[in-house]
Amino acid sequence: MLITGTSRGLGAELARLYTEDGWRVIACQRLATDDTADRLALDVADAASIDALGRSLQGVAIDLLINNAAVRGDIGGLATLEPDDFLDVMRVNALAPLLVTRALLWNLRAGEHSVVANISSRAGSLAEGTLDDDDGDYAYRCSKAALNMATVKLAQDLRADGISVVSLHPGWVQTDMGGSEAVVSVEASAAGLKAIIDSTGLADSGSFRAYDRRRVSW
Ligand SMILES: NC(=O)c1ccc[n+]([C@@H]2O[C@H](COP(=O)([O-])OP(=O)(O)OC[C@H]3O[C@@H](n4cnc5c(N)ncnc54)[C@H](OP(=O)(O)O)[C@@H]3O)[C@@H](O)[C@H]2O)c1
Repeated sequence: MLITGTSRGLGAELARLYTEDGWRVIACQRLATDDTADRLALDVADAASIDALGRSLQGVAIDLLINNAAVRGDIGGLATLEPDDFLDVMRVNALAPLLVTRALLWNLRAGEHSVVANISSRAGSLAEGTLDDDDGDYAYRCSKAALNMATVKLAQDLRADGISVVSLHPGWVQTDMGGSEAVVSVEASAAGLKAIIDSTGLADSGSFRAYDRRRVSW
C-alpha cells in the first residue's frame, strides 16, 4: 500500500497500523527522513514530485492508495479569504489526489481488488458540513467538496479496472489539524478507517463513510 502525508497525524498512524498488520507500506512524506526504499519523498503540491513518484515505482503492484496529505488553510472566513491560500489548499487537497491516482494507475491496475481511499472531511459535505460546524475554513471545505466529486468520478472511471474509490471522514481527530479540543483519538480514527478500507469492494465504490462506518451524505 502507498500513503501520502505520513510525517505525523493520521498518516503516520495509518502507516504504523498497516505495517503492524504485515503490509508492505510505501510511506510518502515531504521530507523523507531516511533512505529506505519504502519511505519516499513526495510533495503533493508539486506535480513534478508526483510524476517522479510514479516513475520510481514502475513495475510495483499497489493494492491500496490512501490520499491522506492535506492542509487546512485560512480559517478566518470571507474577511481573510486570500486567493493564493485558497488555490494552495485546492492544489494539495483536491488536485493532488487526482494526480497521485493517475501517476499510480498502472500500479493500481496491477494490484488485487485495489482501493483508492481519499481522506476527505464531513466539512466538505454540502448536506452535513455546516449542520454543527461554523468554522470559516472556506478553502478547506471547498477542497474537500471537490475531492468528493473526484471520488465519485474516479469510482465511475476505474470500475472497469476493478478499482474501488471511496471518500472517508476520519472524525474530529486529535492531530495538529484537529487541534486540542478534538474528540477522537488518532488511534481510534485510524483503526476505524482501516477497518472500512479493508472491507471495501466494488459494491462500496463511490461512497462516503465516516471512521465509525456511518454513511455521510454528500
Ligand atoms: N484532524 C481532523 O480533525 C480531521 C478532520 C477531517 C478530515 N481530516 C483529514 O484527515 C487527513 C489527515 O489529517 P491530520 O489531522 O492527520 O492532519 P495533520 O496532522 O495536519 O497532518 C497533515 C499531513 O499532511 C502532510 N502534508 C501537507 N501538505 C503536504 C504536501 N504538500 N506534500 C506532502 N505531504 C503534505 C503533512 O506533512 P508535513 O509534516 O510535511 O507538513 C502531514 O503529514 C487530512 O486529509 C485531513 O484533511 C482531518
